[in-house]
Amino acid sequence: MDKMVYVERLLAHPEYRDLQKEIEQLEADRIYCKHEFSHSLDVCRIAWILFLEEQIASAKAGDLHGAGLLEWKERIYLTGLLHDIGRVAQYQTGEHHGEAGRRIARRLLDEIGCPDVWREEILFVVALHFGRDGEQMQPGTLGDYICRADHSSRNCFLCSASETCKWLEAEKNKTITE
Ligand SMILES: [Fe+2]
Ligand SMILES: [Fe+2]
Repeated sequence: MDKMVYVERLLAHPEYRDLQKEIEQLEADRIYCKHEFSHSLDVCRIAWILFLEEQIASAKAGDLHGAGLLEWKERIYLTGLLHDIGRVAQYQTGEHHGEAGRRIARRLLDEIGCPDVWREEILFVVALHFGRDGEQMQPGTLGDYICRADHSSRNCFLCSASETCKWLEAEKNKTITE
């Protein structure tokens, strides 16, 4: 598949890189789920798998190819890479990372020349990706894939902080599915 042009621009953006490093430093002693770059990349890749699995399983398989498929992939990766970018602001000022993330992501997306038709949906998902497994997202949308991937990326079955985690027992992942 062709290169993801906007994703490459985001990865090269100095502010994006700095924020990722800051998240890692601020969470160095955190015992619960962290939000560093590898988490964001897990979310991108799981969301892409979920999308592809649904394409294969449904009558839509074969409908999407070439440019359409690459657009989906790039929108998924941009959103996954940006979904927790507001964490630094949350730790520093108490502002929720969804809202802070929307503000920061809007500027970053502008600066990398993100297509106008993608921008508002990506920002909507960045702002509202938290909550109970994306219940506010419509099935089969960008937000649905990102929220399910965000949840599924957590390896609760191996976590030593599971006892005091705020997730309800029923929410905790007991195995891997993607
Ligand atoms: Fe988050
Ligand atoms: Fe996350």
